[in-house]
Amino acid sequence: MKVLGIDIGGSALKGAPVDINTGRLLAERFRIETPKIVTPERAAKIVAEIAQHFSWRGPIGIGFPGVVEGSKLYTSANLHKRFIGCDAGKLFGKATRCPVTITNDAAAAALAEMTFGAGRRFKGKTLLLTLGTGIGSALCYHGLVVPCELGHFPIRGKSAEKFVSSSARKRRDLSWEEWGTELGDYIRTLERLLWPELIIVGGGVSAKSRKYFKYVKPRAKMVPAKFLNEAGIVGAALSYDRHNLR
Ligand code: BGC
Repeated sequence: MKVLGIDIGGSALKGAPVDINTGRLLAERFRIETPKIVTPERAAKIVAEIAQHFSWRGPIGIGFPGVVEGSKLYTSANLHKRFIGCDAGKLFGKATRCPVTITNDAAAAALAEMTFGAGRRFKGKTLLLTLGTGIGSALCYHGLVVPCELGHFPIRGKSAEKFVSSSARKRRDLSWEEWGTELGDYIRTLERLLWPELIIVGGGVSAKSRKYFKYVKPRAKMVPAKFLNEAGIVGAALSYDRHNLR
């Protein structure tokens, strides 16, 4: 089965058709930079443009950076506040005239990694973190993926993602060592609460793991996501199938 996977992110909206039996992209991904102000209507136009680019008429799985229940959005920390309360399934379904499901972006990435990537065949407790504009998180255990919001774990009264996301590293102009060390404090705090056996790091910065993994020093084994920054696209497509299992 082929599903168009779309990952809505703070820096870009990316999509590609995915073979959900293998997790392979069936065409080169199509990427549109996230405009400075992206209202739900603007996002719907971009999602429709991505579907049109592939002349898509089939199912679409979308990953969104916020809390998702059913197809409704409950938070939008790094995108427009007007997404909050919005029925994204209806919005994007109408714009593309295709059947659409919505999943939290990090839960989508976790599904891709546990099915075909770095966590494949691993049944123990796994924490997946995506480090991008925000910090996405999901816990996985025996094939089950649970979306979490650990990027909002409080550090000095603010969300952890304000200090240790990938965009925070650039904004704060930290060296890899400085950032990796702070990231390590955060990850070890999460470890004391969750005790994962495996930590998978996704997001744009996962490709640069050699520069900062050595400063993190977690208890668990820590590995970069196999799909690197494409886990969100693959996982969004895989999630389409999961939604229909409900
Ligand atoms: C959102 C999460 C999302 C993460 C990564 C956070 O700000 O609250 O839902 O998974 O960013 O995009």
